Amino acid sequence: MIMIRRYQYGSPIQTDAVVREIPPYEGELKYLKEIRKEILHFAYTMEDNDVVYGLGENVRGINKRGGIYESKSSDEPSHLEDKRSLYAAHNFIILQGEVNFGIFVDYPRVITFDIGYTNRNQFVITPSSADLDLYIIEGESLKDIVKEFRQMIGRSYIPPKWAFGYGQSRWSYMDEDEVREVVKKHRDNQIPLDAVYLDIDYMDNYKDFTLNEKAFPNFPMFVEELKEQGIRLVPIIDAGVKVEKGYDVYEEGVENHYFCKDKEGNDFVAGVWPGKVHFPDVLNKKARKWFGQKYKFLLDQGIEGFWNDMNEPAIFYSEEHLKEVFENIDQFKGENLDIDSFFKFQELVGSINNNVNDYKRFYHNVEGEYYRHDKVHNLYGYNMTRAAAEAFEELEPEKRILLFSRSSYIGMHRYGGIWTGDNISWWSHILLNIKMMPSLNMCGFLYTGADIAGFGGNTTEDLALRWMQLGIFTPLMRNHSAIGTRYQEAYRFEKMEAFRNIIGIRYGLLPYIYSEFVKAAISNEMYFRPLAFDYTEDEFATQVEDQLLVGDGLMIAPVYQQNATGRYIYLPEPMKLFRMKSMKDMEWEIMENGHHYIDIALDEVVLFVRPNHIIPCSLSGQCIDDMNQNELTLLENVIDKATYELYHDDGFSKDFENPEHYSRIEITSDGSCKVEGNLELVIQR
Ligand code: GLC
Repeated sequence: MIMIRRYQYGSPIQTDAVVREIPPYEGELKYLKEIRKEILHFAYTMEDNDVVYGLGENVRGINKRGGIYESKSSDEPSHLEDKRSLYAAHNFIILQGEVNFGIFVDYPRVITFDIGYTNRNQFVITPSSADLDLYIIEGESLKDIVKEFRQMIGRSYIPPKWAFGYGQSRWSYMDEDEVREVVKKHRDNQIPLDAVYLDIDYMDNYKDFTLNEKAFPNFPMFVEELKEQGIRLVPIIDAGVKVEKGYDVYEEGVENHYFCKDKEGNDFVAGVWPGKVHFPDVLNKKARKWFGQKYKFLLDQGIEGFWNDMNEPAIFYSEEHLKEVFENIDQFKGENLDIDSFFKFQELVGSINNNVNDYKRFYHNVEGEYYRHDKVHNLYGYNMTRAAAEAFEELEPEKRILLFSRSSYIGMHRYGGIWTGDNISWWSHILLNIKMMPSLNMCGFLYTGADIAGFGGNTTEDLALRWMQLGIFTPLMRNHSAIGTRYQEAYRFEKMEAFRNIIGIRYGLLPYIYSEFVKAAISNEMYFRPLAFDYTEDEFATQVEDQLLVGDGLMIAPVYQQNATGRYIYLPEPMKLFRMKSMKDMEWEIMENGHHYIDIALDEVVLFVRPNHIIPCSLSGQCIDDMNQNELTLLENVIDKATYELYHDDGFSKDFENPEHYSRIEITSDGSCKVEGNLELVIQR
């Protein structure tokens, strides 16, 4: 039986995370023990083998047990094991044990989840205050609980189809010619590509909704020129608006009180890329509408996608605190700094960026009521993205626009996707990428991916290839790197052909990837799942944290160890292994269930097809617009009969439920192939 109970404490702040009307339940709290010692917290005693899933964007395992996590959206580039928060706040958890149940805490302030960290069997949730909505979600299986939760929070964002193509990004491609060069190199080398990302330098002095005219003298023409080659440009938008007299966005924001205020009622000043900025008060409806409409500046020039950044919001410094630092720093000048004074000095200097106290220095005006920022902190990136999405609904009602954000809260999954922030070119971050994907899907974030080959640090060819072998399955497939790091575009490497082929396999698998993604969004399911979600009776499955199910029919087991020529894998049932050098060059074999060691070379993709499943593939192309939807090939593992429900559409319109978008393919072991539906499919076998 599926049941959701909402327990209300105090007066919760409206977050709009939940779209279903669920009246507060007055009965006793189930499963959790409510404790009111000094502050309210909730406790649960876990059995030795209980498993805990969830928390979306976070470090550590798929099983979150043994760690402590804090929902506090942070500009945190070191995604290390002992970190408690990354850029997002995703307070959804499932406990799997004797009984399975889900917990969602709808609470926009800092909240801690101690999942057997202080005491191995104790699970303790500690919010910063006692105003929150706590939901307990019951269901038979893990999948039921996720589905029920996802129905409650509304349908996940679906981007345009071109956004499933490969994207190349770097901080920054500085001008038209550099972008042209990137495109040309991909096209000349037949490496498929659909998007090039513009980082902060496309703007005039890092001012949102402006262009560096010198670098991009005729932007609409340039956008058009690239579109003719099947390439979309995707510019970044930052949260902070530069303080500069005469700059229209600044002037309008000041005049209409659309920026967050300090406690004296002045526009709050923080420092980010352009120096001093104000933060648009996106929690305020009017300000949100105004900020969203600003994207029109770029939409009008032919832009069809955006990434929203620094929206935790990241603060290099606040004007007030920087003043305090300068006032206090003099006392250290010329001194012989000893153990105490040196640490004090270090603390003072280290306190400048993303200081918790700075988040208490500004306010939001929500329908006339002022909220101090720290009380609604985790809603900022969400509402910045919502601002854009709501404007797109008005400005481009017929068309899907690509939108993803760095910071997020559950609820934002309806408006856009996310990327997982500033990772590093480390092998451990491939593994982290694997582990994060299903946790994010549980929380509704389906359109997601990591910076492939690593953002910070210098990549190596083998790291980039191994990361691509995972990245071809993530809905957002973007190669992105930081300023000052080694260039990592696919064409820069010696084994360029391997990059071409692996990215080509992504395009080959696209009919399946797109279809599984949209079906998962529509039916509130997960595109990426841990093995334990499907193989519920398999006792070993919960321990597998480095293999994932992708859609209904596929399992992947990426290599994430340097110098490895293969890896151990676990098959919960017999599957068909496909070893692919390219869409045209592949081998297969049936493998028995159990543990195996398999070789996986640097230049190949290995994937597993479940019994009685088929994976529809295309013959690949250089960009999504060029691909032929009607001609498919199949990866088959047919024991007796396999059917596949294929979702396909024009890639732009929003009538996802239209039955015309669905075709059915049926294959039997005697070789027959039946196709039903509107699309004239030609199946090559
Ligand atoms: C932030 C973003 C990164 C971007 C950089 C410059 O660090 O996370 O992706 O490249 O800012 O805009």
